[in-house]
Amino acid sequence: MSPSAKITSMKHTPGTGTNTNTNSGYVPGRSIAEIAEEYNIPVDSIIKLGSNETPLGPSPAAVQAVTDRASGISVYPESDAKDLCNAISEYTGHPAETIVAGAGMDGVIDTLMRILMPGEAIIPTPTFSYYAISARAHHGTPVFTPRNRDFSVDPQNILSQVTDETRVIFICSPNNPGGNLIPESDLRIILEGLEGRDAIVFLDEAYVEFSERSMINLAKKHDNLVVGRTLSKAFGLAGLRVGYGVMSERTRERYLKYATPFAVSSLATAAGIAALGDREHLTRSIRLVRDGRKKLAGIPFPVHPSEANFVLVNVSPHRSDAVCDFLARRGLIVRDCSSFRDAGDSLVRVSVGTAEQNARVVDAFSEFQNS
Ligand SMILES: Cc1ncc(COP(=O)(O)O)c(C=O)c1O
Repeated sequence: MSPSAKITSMKHTPGTGTNTNTNSGYVPGRSIAEIAEEYNIPVDSIIKLGSNETPLGPSPAAVQAVTDRASGISVYPESDAKDLCNAISEYTGHPAETIVAGAGMDGVIDTLMRILMPGEAIIPTPTFSYYAISARAHHGTPVFTPRNRDFSVDPQNILSQVTDETRVIFICSPNNPGGNLIPESDLRIILEGLEGRDAIVFLDEAYVEFSERSMINLAKKHDNLVVGRTLSKAFGLAGLRVGYGVMSERTRERYLKYATPFAVSSLATAAGIAALGDREHLTRSIRLVRDGRKKLAGIPFPVHPSEANFVLVNVSPHRSDAVCDFLARRGLIVRDCSSFRDAGDSLVRVSVGTAEQNARVVDAFSEFQNS
C-alpha cells in the first residue's frame, strides 16, 4: 500500500457502462483554452489537473539545455538518440544496448506495434487507451479483458486469453486510471506463461517514479519483457515528448530496423539528458506528489489507493460528467473517465497538484457533495 494511506477501498463494476467502444480515437484530457472558452473563465485562474502533468514543472537545467541548444536546430539530431540512451542507461542501470528512445512513450509503443502487429494485443481494462489505438492502427486486434473489481489483474485470466495470434500483453503499472501496481509475482506468472511464444509483455511504467517499486529489473531475466517509461511525468517534459523502452538486445534490433529515424528532437534530447541528471529536482517532484496524494485522500468520496501522480475518485451515485462539469465551472479541470473502456460512468481522475491546488480540489468536491 502506498504512503497515501487513509484511503477508502473502492469497487468498480467491470464491463458495465456504455463506454466499451474505443474506436473513436484517443480522448485527451481537456485543455485550459477549451474550458476558458466554454465557461467564460480567465485562463490564468484555471487549474489543470486532468492530464497527470507534474505540479513542479521541469528541472531548470532542462530549460537551460533547450535554450542552449536552440541555435543548433538546423542540424538533424543523432538518428538513434545515442547520448540520451546513455543517460537513460545510467539512470536505469540497464545497458544502452537494451534501450530505445522515442517521441514520448506513445512513440515507442507505436514503433513496437509496427513490428508486432498484425496479431492480438491483450489489454486488461480500464487502462490507458492508446494501446488499443496503436494496435488497431497497425492492423492488430485488441483483446479486452476486464480487470477485477479492485482494478487488479488476474494473471490466469489473462493467460487464458493467449492464442497463437497473441503478440503482446499490455500491463500498466501503476495503472492509469486505477493507480495500482501489479504484484511482481503476478507479472512473473504472465511472463512465464508466455515463454516460448512469439509474444511480449509490455509493462508500462509511466508513473513508476511516484510508486514504491519498479519491476524494470525483470527485463534482465526475461527476454519477453519490454518496459516502457517516459520523461513526461516525474521529469516534467510532457511538452517535449521523450519516452524510452528497455528490452532484450534482440527485440531492440528488430525495433531499430523499423523505427522512425531522428524520433527524438535535438531539443528534447538535450532537455532529457539534463533532466535525468538533476536528481534533486526529481526527488522534489516525487515528494510533492506523495504529499499531495495524502491531501487528495480527503476528497469526500471513495478514493482508490494510488501509487501514481493522480487519484481515482468514485463519485457514484453521481455521474462523472456532472462532477467534472461542476468543477470546470469553478476553473478546475479533472478527468472524466467515462471515455476509458470498462470504467463505467462514475469515475473521476484527479492529478496531484500543488498544495494550494489540491486544497481547492478537495473544497470543490465537498461543495459538490453539499450542493
Ligand atoms: C499509462 C500511460 N502510458 C503512456 C503515456 C504516454 O506517455 P508519453 O507522454 O511519454 O507519450 C501516458 C500518458 O498520459 C500514460 O498515462
